Amino acid sequence: MDTIIRMEHVSKSYQLGLKSIQALKDLDFTAERGEFVAIMGRSGSGKSTFLKIAGTLEDADEGKVWIGEKEIQTLSMQERCKMRQGSIGFVFQKYQLLPEYTIWDNVCMPLYIAHQNPDRDYIQQILERAGLWERRMDYPEELSGGEQQRVAIARAMAAKPEIILADVN
Ligand SMILES: Nc1ncnc2c1ncn2[C@@H]1O[C@H](COP(=O)(O)OP(=O)(O)O)[C@@H](O)[C@H]1O
Ligand SMILES: [Mg+2]
Repeated sequence: MDTIIRMEHVSKSYQLGLKSIQALKDLDFTAERGEFVAIMGRSGSGKSTFLKIAGTLEDADEGKVWIGEKEIQTLSMQERCKMRQGSIGFVFQKYQLLPEYTIWDNVCMPLYIAHQNPDRDYIQQILERAGLWERRMDYPEELSGGEQQRVAIARAMAAKPEIILADVN
């Protein structure tokens, strides 16, 4: 099998004043290339924390994380950033759209940041699939919550990443 995400013995705690909250405890996980994985659990069970670590947005306190062949801890900040831009699309729980940019620019933003030219035909295709092509010159606040979420999904797909991490709740 072709493993794309692997975690071994991952733990993560958050410090809240004097209190320590353990979000993940000794977690093992693998996902194969092309696999579709859904993670379910009650609110506060660590789903968002898991996705942030898988997306290299946060570090685990303990354990190891591989994206493809690369172990995250061995990468420099720069290498990690490059890997994230090329390989990972993230749909944030609260969408995190940029209010001062149009839908089109929001979707293309990961490419602008990586100094890449958008594949305009492909961006049109994903906006059409999301039912948002006619709304491309509108602004996030003019869209419904569900439409905003679809913009966030389209944005996660814009750079054609190998991995899409979607934090839906
Ligand atoms: N930045 C943070 N600071 C303090 N505690 C946090 C932080 N992020 C998450 N937590 C805590 O970690 C636990 C898991 O949170 P989270 O991963 O967001 O759960 P889920 O996404 O499954 O609802 C929760 O108890 C939450 O309060
Ligand atoms: Mg969450």
